[in-house]
Amino acid sequence: MAFILLAINQFQLYNFWHYHIIQNYLSLNIVARSIMSFPYKHVLLIGATSGIGRAMADLFLSQEICVTAVGRRQDRLDDFVSKHTTGKATSITFDVANISGIPNFIKNALQQHPTIDAIFLNAGVQSRFFFNNPSSVDLSNFDKEFLVNFTSVVHMTHAILPHLLARDTPTALIYTGSHVSLIPAPPMPAYCASKAALESFMTSVRVQLECTNVSVIHLSPGPVQTEIHHKEMGEARGKGFGMPLEVYTKATWEKMQKGDKNVFVGPVGGSSEEQLAEIVEKREAAIGRMVELIKRMMG
Ligand SMILES: NC(=O)c1ccc[n+]([C@@H]2O[C@H](COP(=O)([O-])OP(=O)(O)OC[C@H]3O[C@@H](n4cnc5c(N)ncnc54)[C@H](OP(=O)(O)O)[C@@H]3O)[C@@H](O)[C@H]2O)c1
Repeated sequence: MAFILLAINQFQLYNFWHYHIIQNYLSLNIVARSIMSFPYKHVLLIGATSGIGRAMADLFLSQEICVTAVGRRQDRLDDFVSKHTTGKATSITFDVANISGIPNFIKNALQQHPTIDAIFLNAGVQSRFFFNNPSSVDLSNFDKEFLVNFTSVVHMTHAILPHLLARDTPTALIYTGSHVSLIPAPPMPAYCASKAALESFMTSVRVQLECTNVSVIHLSPGPVQTEIHHKEMGEARGKGFGMPLEVYTKATWEKMQKGDKNVFVGPVGGSSEEQLAEIVEKREAAIGRMVELIKRMMG
């Protein structure tokens, strides 16, 4: 009888420790996973003076992640730094259209903030061009839009990669694309083409960086209520176009924390988020087949 009781006790004791060890393991794992899914500690955020960039900058700081905010509007940058008094918010004024100045801009940013381990390329502009009325199209404006939305991103990526690759911790390139890279909105040919170019570039860079410490995170928003729409729609109409900014940032951050590398949020031009997801899924599978084929061909 004593032997049976002892055996039951031993069994209960074993179960107790077993349960707690498993619980501890699971909770540690969950904590580790949530930290690991966005492990970056200092984000250089280009296009942080309004809209999505500013909202994400505030969100990062609420998570104790340092932010160096970049944009052209000094008053907005000053406002950002003065609202966060922890020393984790800093700023640099820069116009990304100054392509030849990009290497120096990145060099100085890294000298001032060597802890930067992620760059968030979010600056963007948007206007309408009507090729059915060619004389109304100012091609220099078309080129400038492409320069800001695409060419500057390529140059920033090129300038910062040596630093990101040299670090012995995980680092990231974060890009703000747009659903219109897949489903163009015809009044905005420069914008849609620049976002399509960006997505294509980013996809290739991601594959090339596969075996490195650099992750490529692609954020693709549907319409969001930001200042980007004010220029063409006017402030009153532009303000109400798309999903509220807080809804977008919350949904995006939730997916980023889960470790999603393709963060599609919101509908686009008559297609729901689910309809868009079908296109994205088929396209991802096709990209996978292309990559496998090229790997086989290149040995
Ligand atoms: N809102 C949407 O519906 C939507 C949808 C899909 C994708 N997006 C993308 O989201 C990103 C952010 O846009 P948003 O909607 O938040 O619009 P926003 O409020 O107008 O913000 C645009 C940001 O880009 C910066 N920027 C523009 N030109 C710049 C330049 N030459 N040099 C440096 N910074 C520059 C602006 O800063 P300064 O003016 O101070 O320079 C500002 O911080 C863009 O890439 C946009 O294409 C937006």
